[in-house]
Amino acid sequence: MEKPVLTHPNSAAESNLLETTSPNYPHVRMRRLRATPQLRSMVRETHVRKEQMIYPLFIVEGKGRKIPISSMPGIHQQSIDEALKEIEEVAKLGLTSIILFGIPETKDSQATAAWSEDGIIQKAIREIKKRFPHIVVVADTCLCEYMDHGHCGLVADGKILNDPSLTVLAKSAIAQAQAGADIIAPSDMMDGRIQAIRNGLDQAGYANTPIMAYSAKFASGMYGPFREAAESAPQFGDRNGYQMDPANAREAMREIALDIQEGADMIMVKPALPYLDLIKEARQLYKLPIAAYNVSGEYAMVKAAAEKGWLDERRVVTEVLTSITRAGADLIITYHAKDMAAWLDQ
Ligand code: PBG
Ligand code: ZN
Repeated sequence: MEKPVLTHPNSAAESNLLETTSPNYPHVRMRRLRATPQLRSMVRETHVRKEQMIYPLFIVEGKGRKIPISSMPGIHQQSIDEALKEIEEVAKLGLTSIILFGIPETKDSQATAAWSEDGIIQKAIREIKKRFPHIVVVADTCLCEYMDHGHCGLVADGKILNDPSLTVLAKSAIAQAQAGADIIAPSDMMDGRIQAIRNGLDQAGYANTPIMAYSAKFASGMYGPFREAAESAPQFGDRNGYQMDPANAREAMREIALDIQEGADMIMVKPALPYLDLIKEARQLYKLPIAAYNVSGEYAMVKAAAEKGWLDERRVVTEVLTSITRAGADLIITYHAKDMAAWLDQ
């Protein structure tokens, strides 16, 4: 027999419905605290703060260069002088931290620009810290942007080598710390890199430089726009042999546990939105600060739909960043940081 459909507001079916609801009603009415903006604000549980957002910048060689990235509206590749102007804006908005990605003039098989003293990011860090000593500069430590083959480690016979890559990664981290980086953020996903980088930093006199480990970094389709921005797409194969399978949650907790044992000061889940469950699980299991990377593809989806008028950008971005925070992230790397900071002031 089919159930009766509620056709009329006073139908018998509707009064039955009330009789079968919780005995708490009508004493409990959840809507009481939703009645006005003031009440809603008083009981709001989660807040996005300016201090938790980290704004990414893509740095190229040269002067006066500011090249838009088509798949990431509002984001540019820019030379150091242009980046300094944007960081001034970032600071004025009340943001406190940036993360840097470098696009070198020449790429090779040893990722030379990743660790040489005059590599693009090392130069950028020195200039930025000179002008903005209080801006927390996070250096993404990886080799893909500096390798001619676009992989995150050394390559031989078409294979991505693990252990030999660790030396190069540690060298890169030391060069970044030497230039003045406040936080080292390894994103390569080689095994043992946190330990290698920690040892390298300590031996070079940077025992106090923290490491933010991209611990649970997935082989995601959401990095597409970034690879245009950083010119870092692999020239052969893919990253599935070192980045994680999106299906694996338990393995993500193992990766995080290992990075903590190896000396990570903070851990990261990346991307953010499709992996909110893992942010939450990591929050429940571990005490250290957790970062989430709201990646380029997540940004591009929102921007594209907003440009088409299909959704309200401010509402959606606020909802996205609030959700990542609610899941348990302390820090969020996000291309929306400037917009969000401005909205928080309104
Ligand atoms: C490089 C790196 C990537 C991102 C951050 N660092 C891309 C990749 O692994 O291919 C992605 C960030 C984004 O999509 O916004 N290892
Ligand atoms: Zn990489």
